[in-house]
Amino acid sequence: MSSQNAVHFKFLPMSTRVLFSSVLLVFGLAYCMAMVQVWVTHVGLDGKSYLTAQDLMISYNGNKDATKMATALKGPMAAMLDDAGKMTLFTWLHKGAPKDEFDKTINPILQEHCVACHNKAANPNLPDYTSWEGVQKVAVADTGMTVPTLVRVSHIHLFSITFIFFIVGFIFSHAYIRPLWFKCVVISVPFLSLITDVASWYLTKMWEGFAWMVIISGAFMGTAFTIMWLTSMYQMWLGKVPTGLGEDGKIPCIK
Ligand code: HEC
Repeated sequence: MSSQNAVHFKFLPMSTRVLFSSVLLVFGLAYCMAMVQVWVTHVGLDGKSYLTAQDLMISYNGNKDATKMATALKGPMAAMLDDAGKMTLFTWLHKGAPKDEFDKTINPILQEHCVACHNKAANPNLPDYTSWEGVQKVAVADTGMTVPTLVRVSHIHLFSITFIFFIVGFIFSHAYIRPLWFKCVVISVPFLSLITDVASWYLTKMWEGFAWMVIISGAFMGTAFTIMWLTSMYQMWLGKVPTGLGEDGKIPCIK
């Protein structure tokens, strides 16, 4: 870690290279997990078995024809109930969730399949299905993520992802990449994408088309991560020292 120019990977102490590689290994794993997480929380909201822009529009913007409960039962909660039970709930929700059917047909299903997790004592943050009031909240039309939820998620997202890309970008700054502008673009793209990503969550609430910006930002971020990860690992362990670097006995610095 020199002050002005970075030393090429090949001239870093073994211990530093082991540290960098270990961090990259865990971040690589974490990135895969994050992708799986995006998949499970958003996929299937529109009824299709792959992730679509429509899924993201429904997550952020809601679905005026659907309720939170129906949306969840088509997405993250799909495995919690058999098809017959789901049909019963969908039919009931479609009728506007009348109270008179609740006690006889709906509540027994919720008690059997949902209340184990959905009760205040076990999970204070989940909708509570031990009472009619709790159920009613998720049986009204779905308006998507609320602005307070978005604000909470976005500040965590902005802070934590900046840390990750600072570390990955710092490691990658020891790579030899020409042209230099390309290296700088790869380092800065994740931060710009992070801003457009978070901004488009809010914009999607105003106009659904911005769901595409969420997808494009994610694609840019993933591409930059992959380039930095692969280049760093390759140049650290497999690649040769770039010609001319360090031969004249000077400190082998790169820009
Ligand atoms: C094993 C525990 C568990 C069971 C059983 C379960 N849920 Fe959930 N549920 C969760 C968790 C955890 C979340 C929040 C995670 C998320 O948003 O993806 C959640 C979220 C939800 C949400 C979304 C809440 C919101 O504010 O957007 C709804 C609606 C829901 N569940 C309905 C159901 C229904 C209906 C059943 C029964 C058929 C059920 N759940 C069974 C754990 C469970």
